[in-house]
Amino acid sequence: MPVRLLTLGLPADTLKEAVLTGLSGRPKRIPPKYFYDGEGSRLFEAICAQPEYYLTRVETALLQAETQNIARRIGPVACMVEPGAGCCAKAQLLLGRLEVASYWPVDISGDALAEAASRLASEYPALDVTAVQLDFTVADGFASLLPHLPASGRRLVYYPGSSIGNAGPAEVVELLKAFRILAGKDGGLLIGFDLKKDAARLHAAYNDAAGVTAAFNRNLLVRLNRELGADFRPEKFAHHAFYNAEAGRIEMHLLSMERQRVTVAGVPVMFEAGESLHTENSYKYLPVEFDALAAQAGFSREAGWQDGEGLFAVHYYA
Ligand code: AVJ
Repeated sequence: MPVRLLTLGLPADTLKEAVLTGLSGRPKRIPPKYFYDGEGSRLFEAICAQPEYYLTRVETALLQAETQNIARRIGPVACMVEPGAGCCAKAQLLLGRLEVASYWPVDISGDALAEAASRLASEYPALDVTAVQLDFTVADGFASLLPHLPASGRRLVYYPGSSIGNAGPAEVVELLKAFRILAGKDGGLLIGFDLKKDAARLHAAYNDAAGVTAAFNRNLLVRLNRELGADFRPEKFAHHAFYNAEAGRIEMHLLSMERQRVTVAGVPVMFEAGESLHTENSYKYLPVEFDALAAQAGFSREAGWQDGEGLFAVHYYA
């Protein structure tokens, strides 16, 4: 079946606006969704292959080992919606087993998505695939998608990869509530999240020896140079990632190695020596903590799976 491409939604907030707002805040910050230009997506894939970055490997192995059980718990669904599907690799793991009529990968970047969706569609000829280009991180981001989904049958929202980790306490319940609406009353949510663990293990995952995470972090500045005509010197910013145990999150920053002035979209921005640009939070949870957040969005846990070391969890909520 040919893939349909649907471009939807409120106008995505522009990079320039978001960056200038973030740089005028204290501390300076830029939302992590802007990491993923072409090079950023490539670097993220490379992170996933680093020995220290256990998340992708462990989740993939877990989904592979448990596909049959997961599919049995979920039951037949009319559609599976995957926000932030990227290269659709995680859907592959389920589609062979899950009884699902249509697949709706959603991503902010339409080109990469359409290509990945076509590849997947040719592997599953009976599956109806609609690639949806949409920035769901904006308020009410899914509102425009809902009317397009099949009117009958159960819906599954699939959110693997610990993408939920980027959402802070203020956003996480909002996002889960949006998933609740997307899934509908009788639908469900299959979600993967990273578990709280030894700080050294977490630290290593975000400070790989090959420096790929550092390059991923600095690539944000390269992107701003290209797309906003900024003049960041990426080599003058140090990658700084650490586990903030009190907040339960990995924080990633770029630290200015000297006092410097940068121009971004024509606007001068001062950095003091040692000043931070906060680029990402990656929240880690205990299973019960995540259940409590999900409950605030009207979800109750039907099933949960973990790897043998207790590094990563996949929960099914309905
Ligand atoms: C894509 C948000 C799951 O938080 O682990 C990896 C992004 N940043 N290394 C994560 C990331 C640095 C990743 N998520």
